[in-house]
Amino acid sequence: MKKIHRMALTAASLFFAITSAHALEGDAKAGEQAAAVCVACHQPDGSGMNVPGGESWPALAGLDADYLYKQLQDMKAGGKRQSPSMMPFASMLNEQQAKDVAVYYSELPAQGGKFDEGATEEELAHGEKLATLGDWDRYIVPCKTCHGPDNLGVGESFPRLAGQHAGYIADQLKAWQSGKRDNDPQHLMLAIAERLNDEDIRAVSQWLARQPAQ
Ligand code: HEC
Ligand code: HEC
Repeated sequence: MKKIHRMALTAASLFFAITSAHALEGDAKAGEQAAAVCVACHQPDGSGMNVPGGESWPALAGLDADYLYKQLQDMKAGGKRQSPSMMPFASMLNEQQAKDVAVYYSELPAQGGKFDEGATEEELAHGEKLATLGDWDRYIVPCKTCHGPDNLGVGESFPRLAGQHAGYIADQLKAWQSGKRDNDPQHLMLAIAERLNDEDIRAVSQWLARQPAQ
């Protein structure tokens, strides 16, 4: 983890992302079977769903396999990533099945995110600024510094945000603020989330969800 700061800032991060693409030992075919219980929420194509007025089920398709596996472990353990919805399903999978479903979802093609059609031009401009330039007066580092150019993700540590559902991105930022999610290495995300206000969260999640997922 020590190297991550430096790596995220250099072009070497792209090389790292490519070479670590299949580090996890999982079988996509077995994963597809184990994922039969997941489709109700994450959908057969892994695109997830924003339930209007309700929970947001993240898109899993095309996310890094090691990242997905780590999240399953964290949600199963329950302490650092608390999700009453996911806990029973994460607990249902044994070690190998968790690897298999992670590889399975990572190989599905990424799809675009769901967002609120009513977001204003001003909101989107503010969201774009936070994601690409940050706000140095408030020590908000641009999302792309860690999540990669175009926020398409970097390796196993920094998930893709572009084309993820706006509702899910906002939920996670609030989960960091409330302590429901506390599984980020070196509190890299907490440091960002705690500096965002509600308008920032809405703006940045609406803008990110509109960006191409590939
Ligand atoms: C009842 C709906 C539901 C079902 C069924 C479900 N999930 Fe989830 N899943 C969620 C929700 C909601 C979240 C967001 C959790 C949170 O942080 O609060 C989530 C999050 C995740 C994440 C984290 C994604 C990320 O980007 O960090 C993974 C991985 C995941 N689910 C995998 C699975 C797998 C594999 C199954 C089946 C074994 C499954 N889920 C079944 C609702 C569901
Ligand atoms: C200093 C590095 C850093 C910066 C800057 C950063 N993030 Fe992150 N972010 C991370 C890390 C690391 C994770 C993965 C945490 C984990 O391992 O569970 C993450 C995860 C996330 C997730 C969870 C995605 C998922 O699939 O569950 C969201 C949402 C997120 N970041 C939003 C943002 C937004 C919005 C910004 C800009 C305002 C931002 N991040 C800036 C490091 C960073």
